Amino acid sequence: MKKINQINFKKTLSKFVTGITVVCVKKNEIIYGKTVNSFNSLSLNPPMVLFSLGNYSSSINTYLKSEYLSVNILSNKQKKISEHFSKKNPSNNDVDFFYSKHDTPLIKSCVANLECKLIEKIKRGDHIIFICRVINIKKHDRVKPLTYFNSKYY
Ligand SMILES: Cc1cc2nc3c(=O)[nH]c(=O)nc-3n(C[C@H](O)[C@H](O)[C@H](O)COP(=O)(O)O)c2cc1C
Repeated sequence: MKKINQINFKKTLSKFVTGITVVCVKKNEIIYGKTVNSFNSLSLNPPMVLFSLGNYSSSINTYLKSEYLSVNILSNKQKKISEHFSKKNPSNNDVDFFYSKHDTPLIKSCVANLECKLIEKIKRGDHIIFICRVINIKKHDRVKPLTYFNSKYY
């Protein structure tokens, strides 16, 4: 065993395979999206999911104040979308959205889309855990997911 530091902690966690999501919100007619792999299921009844965002993020206040948001689980054809939404202040020019009845922006052609209501925010360390109730869902059975392992897409 090695004594932990920030570099070896990050590298060790990169050995955990995840899917890739983009979490989207709309505020003042502007769509915000962020690539997130800290997404996970939380509860079946009631249906809840969670993810965490760095408290240092440039758009953290927009996410903290949002009532509805979408979690878009990307397909293996959407690597560019993941790269796009991991930039600071990305524009949305090349991304196709559709909208729910709450006007939540959702990304087209994903493996799955969740429309969520933000119900709780918990500050821990340098991240904030967002707990969300899932209210509407969509899935595509024939589409394969984008995965992330060892800081690379597969
Ligand atoms: C594969 C991948 C997964 C990521 N997962 C998260 C995450 O779970 N939480 C988070 O806050 N940022 C995550 N990021 C970083 C954000 O996507 C983004 O790069 C960062 O928030 C941009 O800085 P800003 O928020 O200050 O604009 C991830 C980035 C990548 C490439």
